[in-house]
Amino acid sequence: MSIKVAPSILAADYLNLERDVALVEAAGAEYLHIDVMDGMFVPSISYGPNWVKALKKTSKMVMDVHLMVEQPERYIDVFAEAGADIIGVHYEATQHLHRALQMINNHGVKAEVVINPATPVSVIEPVLHMVGQVLVMTVNPGFGGQKFLPETVDKIAQLAAYKTEHGLDFDIEIDGGANDETTVLAYQAGATVAVAGSYVFDQVDPAAKVARLKAVTK
Ligand code: DX5
Ligand code: ZN
Repeated sequence: MSIKVAPSILAADYLNLERDVALVEAAGAEYLHIDVMDGMFVPSISYGPNWVKALKKTSKMVMDVHLMVEQPERYIDVFAEAGADIIGVHYEATQHLHRALQMINNHGVKAEVVINPATPVSVIEPVLHMVGQVLVMTVNPGFGGQKFLPETVDKIAQLAAYKTEHGLDFDIEIDGGANDETTVLAYQAGATVAVAGSYVFDQVDPAAKVARLKAVTK
């Protein structure tokens, strides 16, 4: 089965967002990736729950919300109420990861744990039974357009092995530097979802880029 594609609106044209979202949806992208940045956990500032609410009205794609914020548990309720289908919290951003994931699950939203490039898989093993998705950052979070870090691929393989060993079925998502070469590496290691920002939207034809990511992972 082809990898699921999650275009990141971070690289889209904000003044033509509805058009860009429609293009990738028609091309078969399953998720829409929404990068929430607070200027603290990462230097950039991006958008809040009203964006999710607006996007939800224009698209049937899965709203995949990536919280790059300190103490993400402060924002889980508002993003769940705004229509998020998946909410991801960073292991590095909270002292209460288990509680944050419980909160997401209590909303009936798919819970996701996210790990930075320097964070090993072993530290999230105690919560893997309670997530629907694990996001392996393949760049350092905060900016689009960075280069894929190949040393993260081994963590994807470790998670895939853990899944089989323990009979779990969470998705494994990659985020950062995804293109038609790096996505194949991640897919072969066991990734099931690829976030792609600049690869999809910096090109003249976003639909063709979505199709390409699917074609190279058959
Ligand atoms: C980075 C964000 C990514 C970003 C990826 O902090 O989490 O989702 O949009 O952008 P590209 O695909 O350009 O690396
Ligand atoms: Zn992201």
